[in-house]
Amino acid sequence: MKKRENLLEIPCFLVVLGFLFLGLLNGSNGQDPIGFGYSVRSVVSNDTGKFLTAELELINGTNTFGPDVQSLTLTASYDTKDRLRIRITDAKTQRWEISHDIIPRPFHPTNPLNHDHLSPPSENLSSPSENQVLLSDPNSDLVFTLHNTTPFGFTVSRNSSGDVLFDTSPNGSNPDTFFIFKDQYIQLSSSLPDNNRSSLYGLGERTRSSFKLTPGQNFTLWNSDIPSARTDVNLYGSHPFYLDVRSASGDGKVAAGTSHGVLLLNSNGMDIVYGGDRITYKVIGGVVDLYIFSGSTPELVTEQYTELIGRPAPIPYWAFGFHQCRYGYKDVSDLEGVVANYSSAQIPLEVIWTDIDHMDGYKDFTLDPINFPQDKMKNFTDRLHQNGQKYVLILDPGIAVNDSYETYTRGLKADAYIKHNGTNYLGKVWPGPVYFPDFLNPAGGSFWGNEIKIFQDIIAFDGLWLDMNEIANFITTPSLSNSTLDEPPYKINSVGGQRGISVNTVPATALHFGNITEYNAHNLYGLLEARATNEALVNVTGKRPFILTRSTFVGSGKYTAHWTGDNAAKWEDLAYSIPAILNFGLFGIPMVGADICGFLGSTNEELCARWIQLGAFYPFSRDHSDKNSNRQELYLWESVAASARKVLGLRYRLLPLFYTLMYEAHKKGTPIARPLFFSFPEDNNTYDINSQFLIGRGILVSPALQSGSVSVNAYFPAGNWFDLFNLSHSVSVQSGNFVTLDTPPDHINVHVREGNILALQGEALTTNAARNTTFQLLVVNSNSTNSSGEVFLDDGEEVEIGGDGGKWSLVSFSSSVQGNKVVVESNVTNPEFALSQNWIIDKITAIGLENATTVKGYQLYPSSGSSFRKYSGIKTSFESFGKFSKVEVPGL
Ligand code: GLC
Repeated sequence: MKKRENLLEIPCFLVVLGFLFLGLLNGSNGQDPIGFGYSVRSVVSNDTGKFLTAELELINGTNTFGPDVQSLTLTASYDTKDRLRIRITDAKTQRWEISHDIIPRPFHPTNPLNHDHLSPPSENLSSPSENQVLLSDPNSDLVFTLHNTTPFGFTVSRNSSGDVLFDTSPNGSNPDTFFIFKDQYIQLSSSLPDNNRSSLYGLGERTRSSFKLTPGQNFTLWNSDIPSARTDVNLYGSHPFYLDVRSASGDGKVAAGTSHGVLLLNSNGMDIVYGGDRITYKVIGGVVDLYIFSGSTPELVTEQYTELIGRPAPIPYWAFGFHQCRYGYKDVSDLEGVVANYSSAQIPLEVIWTDIDHMDGYKDFTLDPINFPQDKMKNFTDRLHQNGQKYVLILDPGIAVNDSYETYTRGLKADAYIKHNGTNYLGKVWPGPVYFPDFLNPAGGSFWGNEIKIFQDIIAFDGLWLDMNEIANFITTPSLSNSTLDEPPYKINSVGGQRGISVNTVPATALHFGNITEYNAHNLYGLLEARATNEALVNVTGKRPFILTRSTFVGSGKYTAHWTGDNAAKWEDLAYSIPAILNFGLFGIPMVGADICGFLGSTNEELCARWIQLGAFYPFSRDHSDKNSNRQELYLWESVAASARKVLGLRYRLLPLFYTLMYEAHKKGTPIARPLFFSFPEDNNTYDINSQFLIGRGILVSPALQSGSVSVNAYFPAGNWFDLFNLSHSVSVQSGNFVTLDTPPDHINVHVREGNILALQGEALTTNAARNTTFQLLVVNSNSTNSSGEVFLDDGEEVEIGGDGGKWSLVSFSSSVQGNKVVVESNVTNPEFALSQNWIIDKITAIGLENATTVKGYQLYPSSGSSFRKYSGIKTSFESFGKFSKVEVPGL
């Protein structure tokens, strides 16, 4: 670390513009003097030039929400060439922030936990004499500018185009746009470009009809047990991340679809007010730890975002099968009946779940001795496993307070519970009075892991479902007198202003290990519980875990899948599931689904049929319903059963793709279910699509979402698209357009675009059986590009996916058109694993071209060997449909 005495000494990479300092009384926007905010006292950079530290001094405080912090330290740095970080905190006093063990990131000088070379300068800071200071890196498209104005401000812009991505200059004298830093109130506001050039996505968890954020909304983040059937309020999870997709700029410098991401890494309660022309964070604690991800495609943004927060967990192959659950299964024979009925209706069923019904008095890690006795449950799970099926059960965090309950007493002994007022905090959930394990406490995590281990010996479950972990609490503990934690000066708009932060949860004054308050750590609970559960399952089973959680935070995707909670069996909720699922893809939790057929209230035949048609293409596909609703297993109505067979049939044929997309998500963070603009960022019509999505890069799902509908108006980006249920039906659009498609009651529109190669397997009732069918390659040719596709193969349950020395293969297919021939090739990474298996491609179907008559394929597998097949110049059958041809090569 080298200290710089004044700005002019800053090395060349810290470019100092030669403007003269305009004087302390000029506002950054050139308007009247503003008395509020902070001014820059000094700026220094470290000797790598990737780092800038500024000391800020309060000019004038504001009167509300407590006294302002007098001196702040701002640091700006390039963590990577794609990621700029701006951190602002109290210069003198350590404040709460998310630990580096939860989200690893470089240490900044003002972080008291700092151990590395980025120590702050400690003496003789000098006054800046220029009006702006840039931090730029020749490898990065992001430029940070510190404005030495009164008050100070900063901007982040693109080097390539000058486009301003984040700009904290206040809007005139509007105090809602000032930068404010108090103990319990931090305000940070950025303007957004004119002419609605920004389309924002993210900021959840929240049920919304529109995927794109609509101006005039306040996105409150405070994890709450509120049914997702409720729109526009904070729900179970907190994700202070947004993706900003820009339309083209008038001067032609910014291309349509240029995207960046913004994360405010902070676990405290907050309101994020989106006004269209500004976005303003109002946060009740912690520090400003702001990350700008440069993109510049949406896909690169998710890649860069998950590089910081953790890549999505690998998911076992079986979890891509169809799941059936219900709150209210009565006993083991009820479960057996459901499994048998699926089988006789010939509808795929991979996993049967139990809700809290299997428990003895709703106590975690127990079985009801009358209705779900251990011996019968053992027989039941044994038979499931013999049949290639799985069993998942629920856990709630609350441990029943009951001296004869061993889990409880072991937790007491380990001192594993959250504290309040000097004793274990007493809440109330399903079993009555409960204590909650403290997952910030290492003893809490090991207590929990040990219970999982003991229970695995009692019943061989295959995955765990973590519910009520916001934390949900049926009671509200009265606020401690004069506590500004239970009653903070600024009230976030939790549940539309109906709930204080300590209502129906653990009170903000409760304490975690290390005296961390619930006030600070509340939003982290679900994340920490999932982390502890994941670790326990790896230890206990030695296999890749499957966990489903309700409450999430930044980084949860590293450990768990998510479902969207308690939706309603209503048509609106069917539609809202699409924005919800797309959001979780952006949040780095790609394994996500909504309760199929609806959770609250009774569904009906038509809704359930439409819901399974859509839900078959959710990454996580589970039917779940509430105790007080009618039963809704898919076999209960013949029309629903017929739809289920058809759409789950296609899902199971697509399993290699779903699994490969999960692998891609794990390696790069790219979602499984994607907004259309991921593949077509230059087409700004895609920015407003709420009712369609892509699986991977080229399968478009266009569901029917209204009662009585016989057609849908679906948007198709430019290209030739082929109906996956009937390849002779295609849609061709020169430039993106809405197309009206028939949707008879048993049909959902699913199209694959030209340019893709899909490795399909056969239909089956379990994923195991589907994996034993032969592959077929569907080569969707294009006049303009070569086609490609990938398939990732492994045993589906190895803990680390695609790791060094692991047993896996990755096959990349490509095809090109040569005269009247379609030539298909493959390239295999790690061929040994594929060679050792009995996988066969027994058919190649090439579609999408006029006049092609032959398919020539070679090296579809890497070398000669047991089951490897090589195609070349084989006799083909030729068929033409519409303007396209179809060529099929039978197996050898
Ligand atoms: C919560 C869950 C729901 C579950 C119920 C009973 O409402 O969100 O899925 O069925 O609790 O455990």
